Amino acid sequence: MQTVVLLATVGYLLAVYVLRWRRSPLYRVPSVGGPFFPLLSYFGGLHTLFRGKQLIQYGYKKYGARPFKIPLLSGWVVIVSDPEVMEDIKTRPENQLWLTQALMNAFPSYHVTGQDLWEDTWLHGVILKDLTRSISSMIPELMDELEVVAQEFLPSDGDGWVSLNPNKTSEEIVIRAVNRGFVGFPTCRNKEYLNSVAQYTHGIVTAWASALIFPILLTLPVSIGRFFNAAPNAERKCTELLKALLDERRELIRKKLAGDDSIHVPTDMLQFCVEEGVKRDYSDERIMIRIMATNLGAIHTTSMALTNALYDLAAHPQYAQPLRDEIAPIVAAEGWTKAALSKMWKVDSFLKESHRYNGMAVITMLREAMTDVVLADGTIIPKGTKVGVPTYSIQHNEEKYPDPDAFDPFRFARMRERGGNDETKHQLSTTSLDWVGFGHGKQSCPGRFFAANELRAILAYIVLNYDLKLVGGGPRPKNFFFAVSLVPPQSGRILVRKRTAIF
Ligand code: HEM
Repeated sequence: MQTVVLLATVGYLLAVYVLRWRRSPLYRVPSVGGPFFPLLSYFGGLHTLFRGKQLIQYGYKKYGARPFKIPLLSGWVVIVSDPEVMEDIKTRPENQLWLTQALMNAFPSYHVTGQDLWEDTWLHGVILKDLTRSISSMIPELMDELEVVAQEFLPSDGDGWVSLNPNKTSEEIVIRAVNRGFVGFPTCRNKEYLNSVAQYTHGIVTAWASALIFPILLTLPVSIGRFFNAAPNAERKCTELLKALLDERRELIRKKLAGDDSIHVPTDMLQFCVEEGVKRDYSDERIMIRIMATNLGAIHTTSMALTNALYDLAAHPQYAQPLRDEIAPIVAAEGWTKAALSKMWKVDSFLKESHRYNGMAVITMLREAMTDVVLADGTIIPKGTKVGVPTYSIQHNEEKYPDPDAFDPFRFARMRERGGNDETKHQLSTTSLDWVGFGHGKQSCPGRFFAANELRAILAYIVLNYDLKLVGGGPRPKNFFFAVSLVPPQSGRILVRKRTAIF
């Protein structure tokens, strides 16, 4: 009798489960990469981890502008590319489709950093407005930092050709360059601080990769997640190291508010965060977690973009001279300023083409549905499901980018030469339905203007002062794919030589 009741209960639960699965709005969205069937989707998720780029390309070609879905181990992602639907996602408010919620789950920073960062989300606005507004005043400082970094990490006169790992060199340059703008001089050269920042970002990236393979980790209590990761310690260390500086910055604000106009308040990310922190009565820890998060958003992305550009320049040394012909007269006439950098269309185009050609993320505009959402084409995204756009596929679409598999470094400069709107539309930092490397819309990357200026300055400086080539010639080593990212080869090398010629 007991067995009959047990079997009936199991049968009933199974029937309810299958019925719910059959009725899910996702059932009607075609699947790529594995069957939409309870449990079997996990095998599909494993497949996506290593072949996601091909799967999305396949879906994009097969379904055109229609949505399709791919499995991740943590759930399904609906991929959309219809321009009308992309426009719809671009303007959806955060209480319907939210990037932060998607990042919090896909990127388990929450489990490592704790909740605060994700619940009180003013950082986006500070990066977008205050940091962007300060780029002009930061460029001369950045150039000063580059001179010093170059002496430490790039070859000197008389060294001849030196073999370098572009990943490592880019990270060393970027961490110093961005921190000149984040925490100022001399903290940006404090080795203990920089090592802790690097440990923090690596800790979070490791947590992200682990949770992609074992999503069960996301269900662990926050205290356990923090215990096993290097990031919380690194964050504590940075707070300790910057304690005196934080006190100093608070004091500057106090004096300024008291009417002392002789006070010079620095314009760096630390100061912007301290100002916001003072308004909210934040502890040092709550301010520093924002500095760490800004580093997290900036370092891997910018250094991967620089790594790709260095490989591309080394693989195509014939483009160095046209770049120098552009950079040298601008710098001679105006020096290193934001206005001067904005006139370097070929440099900007080289960076943008390198980003387009190599890709970095195969999905951007990733959002999690905070409630059931009906998209412009009628597709229903159930609460808790993610939606995103196929970045790599869009940026390799022949109709948008002729000969998409060729590296054509000045294609965007030529597009800008058409004049009118095209002059700004085809810059690295301008997002559009065809250019989603930084996302698109009000939730897109807030650091893209800062990143574009830093990258232009670093690449222009390197092209002007160094020759690059590949070890043994041949094509550049290919990026590898993991989950939703395209990562430059970690152990590749290029040859770099200090130039003696002025142009
Ligand atoms: C080449 C460099 C960079 C690339 C390719 C990049 C790309 C992205 C992308 C794709 C997103 C998600 C947007 C979306 O999909 O709609 C994002 C978000 C973000 N990025 Fe960047 N980024 C770069 C540099 C930076 C820099 C330099 C900073 C900081 C100064 C930064 C800070 C952030 C932050 C804080 C977010 C999350 C925004 C939020 O939660 O609202 N990024 N970035």
